[in-house]
Amino acid sequence: MTRSRIIACGLVAVVALSLVGCGSSDSGGGATGRPASADSKGGAKKKLVIGFAQTGAESGWRKAETQSVKDEAEKRGIDLKFSDGQGKQELQIQAIHSFIQQKVDGIILAPVVVTGFEPVLKEAKEAGIPVVLSDRAVEVKDPSLYATLVGSDFVDEGKRCAEYLGKKMNGKGNIAEIEGNSGSAPQIERKKGFDEALAKEFPNIKIIADADGKFEIAKGKEVMEAMLRANGKNINAVFCHNDDMGLGAIQAIQEAGMKPGKDILIATIDGEKLMVQQVADGNSNCCVECKALLGSGLFDAIQQAIDKKILPKKMIQKDDQFDETNAKAMVETRKY
Ligand code: AHR
Repeated sequence: MTRSRIIACGLVAVVALSLVGCGSSDSGGGATGRPASADSKGGAKKKLVIGFAQTGAESGWRKAETQSVKDEAEKRGIDLKFSDGQGKQELQIQAIHSFIQQKVDGIILAPVVVTGFEPVLKEAKEAGIPVVLSDRAVEVKDPSLYATLVGSDFVDEGKRCAEYLGKKMNGKGNIAEIEGNSGSAPQIERKKGFDEALAKEFPNIKIIADADGKFEIAKGKEVMEAMLRANGKNINAVFCHNDDMGLGAIQAIQEAGMKPGKDILIATIDGEKLMVQQVADGNSNCCVECKALLGSGLFDAIQQAIDKKILPKKMIQKDDQFDETNAKAMVETRKY
């Protein structure tokens, strides 16, 4: 063999070996290229692929929920396709379209607002992909467009804040309300629970200021500053639809030279460790929990929906409450 023929043969062998290598690394994934694992009967079992259209990262609660879903997916060997909606419905709808195109096995949606999801949920249903709602409801004419909602009773959370503040204010005075992002289920339902309980049980307490704080610390602070400028010392208490806005309100009250938790009473919702600490320190008064670690419940629900089990339309978690009676003891137990 000539020298040039020997080099040519060597090159062919290298190319052939590398082609075998490519083929074998792909051999377990089937048509999708996803890794596969063996089931109990020794057959190939497809790894579950779930799309998660998250609202965004507006609050500590939301970040804890995202982490809980990611951790649980890893624990269960689920291929999670995560999309951060950045508080924008159009991004969430785009993410769901992309999940449908990728033929995921199921979709988890934490809707930023209640309206406007019906058409895309219909597309998911037509593609045979079950949807589980995380923490927030949607308004749809056809309830079969989603399997279930895993979350808390937002109306009750608002009611509990009204009952706490109403008693603490001896049934009289003025309240400022800092709401979550307008049109979202927690904003609508917490406001309903709070306003209705106040009107029914404490008719001599008035809501004298009301604004959207978008569930964010910075916005909560900005809104509280504006309320203090406009209403000054007339505000006896503030109800914040989440802890982050409450943390912002505490800063605004302190910077205005007043004592949060004393000069102005505060009730919030979520149960973040940072806020339970503020209650323990006397800077805030009442924090109603909204359970954030939903990963396990969400994946249980989506698995049942994939298995075509009929689920109740709501799977509600029971929430705790932290105030002067228990906050000090509970701070260290908080996981988020
Ligand atoms: O839907 C749950 C709410 O959304 C939480 O109270 C809030 O912190 C989050 O942004």
